[in-house]
Amino acid sequence: MKNLLDSLHEVLLMGPGPSCIPEAVYQALSRPTIGHLDPLFIEIMDEIKQLLRQVMQTGNRLTIPISGTGSAGMETCFVNLIEPGDEVLILINGVFGKRMQDLATRLGARVDTLEFEWGTPVVVEQVKKQLEKKDYAIVAVVHAETSTGVRNPVEKIAELVEDSASLYLVDAVTSLGGIPVETDAWQVDALYSGTQKCLSCPPGLAPITFSERAIEKTLKRKTKVPNWYLDLSMIINYWEGNTRAYHHTAPVNMLYGLYQALLCITDEGFENVFDRHRACHLELVKSLEQRGMDMLVDPEYQLPMLNAVKIPQGVDEALIRRRLLEEHRIEIGAGLGPLAGKIWRIGLMGHTARSANIRHLAEALDDVILKGLGTG
Ligand SMILES: Cc1ncc(COP(=O)(O)O)c(C=O)c1O
Repeated sequence: MKNLLDSLHEVLLMGPGPSCIPEAVYQALSRPTIGHLDPLFIEIMDEIKQLLRQVMQTGNRLTIPISGTGSAGMETCFVNLIEPGDEVLILINGVFGKRMQDLATRLGARVDTLEFEWGTPVVVEQVKKQLEKKDYAIVAVVHAETSTGVRNPVEKIAELVEDSASLYLVDAVTSLGGIPVETDAWQVDALYSGTQKCLSCPPGLAPITFSERAIEKTLKRKTKVPNWYLDLSMIINYWEGNTRAYHHTAPVNMLYGLYQALLCITDEGFENVFDRHRACHLELVKSLEQRGMDMLVDPEYQLPMLNAVKIPQGVDEALIRRRLLEEHRIEIGAGLGPLAGKIWRIGLMGHTARSANIRHLAEALDDVILKGLGTG
C-alpha cells in the first residue's frame, strides 16, 4: 500500500501558522519515548516550566503546557475561571476575540463585548468607559489578532484592569516568542499560547500561565470545572510537587519538541529573536510596497509576525496562493471573515522569520503575479 508520508515535501510555511520547524526540534521529536512519570521526564517537565516562565516573563508557579492546541489553552483559561453568571468583558477585533465570546457564552457567563473594526486595534478609551460603567469578573483580549495582523494595546488595557477587581485574561498564541509578552509587568492573571507560531514547534501544545489570584479563583469555585480534561486543580498534581500523580498520559515527544524549541529561543536570546522578527517584518513590508502592495494595518499596530497585505486589484487571490504552493512550495494565508478575498496573511513566525525566506517569497510573487499568471 502506498505510504502517503512518502509524498511529503518541505513547504516554506509563511502563513498564519504552523511556522517552519528548526532541525533541532525535528530531532528532539524523534528521541526515544519514555514513560510520562520517568524521573528524567519529570526533570524535562520542570525545565519546560522554567523556560516558559522566562519567555512569558513571569514568576507564576502555575506555568505549564496544556495538551492540545491554542484553543485548548483558551478553553483551559475560560473553563477554570468562569462560573455561570460571571460578568465577562471581551474585546473583539477579529476571529479569536469572537471565539472567546463563543466559549464564555457556552459556559453561562454574562458576556459583554466591545467590538472594533477588523484591522484596527482595540480603543483603550472605550474600554475605560465600559469599566467605569460596570464591574467584571474577567476582562479578556487577544494580544496578537492573527486574523488581521493587529497588535492590541494590552499594556494600556492592563493599566485600566489593574484599577478594577477583574481578572485580566490575554491570548498570546501568536505573540509569544515574537514580541515581548510581559505577563507580570502587565499584571495578567491568565495567559495562553500555542506551540505552532513563534515558538516554531508543531501544533499540539498550549502553554498557559496563571497568577496566584487566578489560581485562587479556580480553587475556590462553587461549581466543578465543567471539563474534566482541562481541570487545572487536577492537572496541577501531575505538573507540581514531589509526588507526581497521573492525570492523562502526557504527549511525551511533543514535550521534547517544546523543550528544544524553547532552548533554541533562549540560546539565541530574547532580544535577538524580537529584533529578527522586527527586521524581517520591515524587509517584507518594503518588498511588498516595492511591488505596489499596501499593508492593511496602521504601522503603529502592525504585528511583525503576521502581515496582512491588501490583494492587488484584478488578482485571483486563491489562484495565486495555489500557484505559490504548487509551483514554489510556499504557503501564505487567506483573509478570514470580512477580510476574505481582501487580504493575504503572510507569516514571519519564529524560524520562518529569515531574510532568505522573504527574498524567496518576493521572487515567487514576481513569478506568479507579475508574469500575469494569477490575474483574472
Ligand atoms: C490568536 C489566536 N488564538 C487562538 C488560536 C487557536 O489556536 P489553535 O488553532 O492552535 O487551536 C489561534 C490559532 O491560529 C490564534 O491565532
